[in-house]
Amino acid sequence: MAKKTEDRRGSAAFDRHFAAIYGERWPVLRKALEAPGRPEAHLSGLVKPYFLDGASVLAAQALGVQPGEEVLDLCAAPGGKSLVLALALQGVGRLVCNDRSSDRRGRLKRVLEEHLSPHLRSIITVTGYDATRWGLHEQEVYDKILLDAPCSSERHLVHSPAHLAQWSAHRTKTLAQQALAMLCAALEALKPGGILVYSTCSISPEENEGLLERFASKRPGAWSLLEKNLTLPDEAGEGPLFWARLEKLTRIP
Ligand SMILES: C[S@@+](CC[C@H](N)C(=O)[O-])C[C@H]1O[C@@H](n2cnc3c(N)ncnc32)[C@H](O)[C@@H]1O
Repeated sequence: MAKKTEDRRGSAAFDRHFAAIYGERWPVLRKALEAPGRPEAHLSGLVKPYFLDGASVLAAQALGVQPGEEVLDLCAAPGGKSLVLALALQGVGRLVCNDRSSDRRGRLKRVLEEHLSPHLRSIITVTGYDATRWGLHEQEVYDKILLDAPCSSERHLVHSPAHLAQWSAHRTKTLAQQALAMLCAALEALKPGGILVYSTCSISPEENEGLLERFASKRPGAWSLLEKNLTLPDEAGEGPLFWARLEKLTRIP
């Protein structure tokens, strides 16, 4: 029994799992994940430089935020993508930056304070709700929502032997289940016709395309997929980053 658990957990199980998904590409992709990240994109318009992975900037920009809009960043800390959204709003409209972790929220507040001018900051509120339950207190309020979901973050895993030793496919399933609840809550909070970007830094299909399939079964006819993109570091030198832009079509029955 103990042997079976060992087989399903840890570095070797991790490699078996992703070799089955990516085939011959896996050793190359794993090596690219092991290389240090390159947070190279420079965001202009900030009072102090902030460097973010280029693929993360593109994911936040995929939301297409315009000045005057009501925008929600559901899982915002430490705040790199919130900066992109705040720059797009130009101090006009409203930006709610939410994160359930109080430690990470502290970091988020510091990032916003240190990098944004008072004018860009004036329309931002920081909140600490559970994103899976957001629909309980606000419905059909936002023009645009970014859901940058907590995910398996395999780049982080391969740099942390202690975390990799604890890896199991079960964790992916738990995170996907949580992200699905967040997607449902985000859809409720969005105005009809509003836009939602779902993003992760995972290479696991269950947390990316696979989750969109489950979301389509759970909320059929409520949204349509406008565009999606997966950036992998073996090809692009940045990422991993998956994002999908969705449009809310109707009132949810
Ligand atoms: C991928 S990180 C967000 C990164 C951030 N968007 C950025 O660009 O800097 C996911 C965040 O989700 C937060 N989180 C996890 N579970 C949550 C929940 N149930 N409700 C709200 N936030 C949650 C975590 O604290 C973490 O900061």
